[in-house]
Amino acid sequence: MEITEAVIIMLAGLWLFLPAMLPNSAAVVFGGGKPMDMGKEWNGKRILGDGKTWRGFFGGGFSGMILGLMLMGISFLFGSEDLFGYINLQTGIGVAACLAFGSLLGDLMGSFIKRRLGIERGKKAPILDQYDFLIGAFLLTSLFYPQWIYSTYIEGYNILALVFLLIVTLLLHRVMNIIGYKAGLKDVPW
Ligand code: CTP
Ligand code: MG
Repeated sequence: MEITEAVIIMLAGLWLFLPAMLPNSAAVVFGGGKPMDMGKEWNGKRILGDGKTWRGFFGGGFSGMILGLMLMGISFLFGSEDLFGYINLQTGIGVAACLAFGSLLGDLMGSFIKRRLGIERGKKAPILDQYDFLIGAFLLTSLFYPQWIYSTYIEGYNILALVFLLIVTLLLHRVMNIIGYKAGLKDVPW
């Protein structure tokens, strides 16, 4: 395999995954209002906590879907027959929806686990904080589009795309949290 081929695989994998990467940042912007667990506790601890709101969930989810549509529009303008890997409009919309809402479901699962472990809202949980959204996005998309996940991120050298995503996610998480902190959207730089 040539190096350019590897780079293309990695960049395509990142491009296609962007609808999963935007929602968590968008949720910070849209968030607020009623918490999804309605303030309820389970065994003396909040089910999800005040950091998970309906506005953040749907604002984040629709932002991710709209980004997916924009990516497909750009691909179409470039004359890409397979929309740079989204295959076609119907598949692309479905995949983008699964990536966006899957990432937010993963984020909810992460907070659920943090609360069960006694980690308060906003306190650090290494690995969980960085990768909960990615796991959720992969699981939900695998459920509805297993072949798309397999051919994009698993099959042959395409596994490079997955490895690249895992590394970029780690770096991006650091950068986005520092930006969120400097912009006054977050109280702590992590
Ligand atoms: N947010 C939201 N609704 C969501 C997800 C996120 O409103 N479904 C907003 C909240 O304002 C939240 C911020 O985005 O505080 C950052 O998200 P995150 O880091 O996931 O939440 P934390 O506040 O750190 O809480 P947790 O410990 O549960 O992760
Ligand atoms: Mg957090």
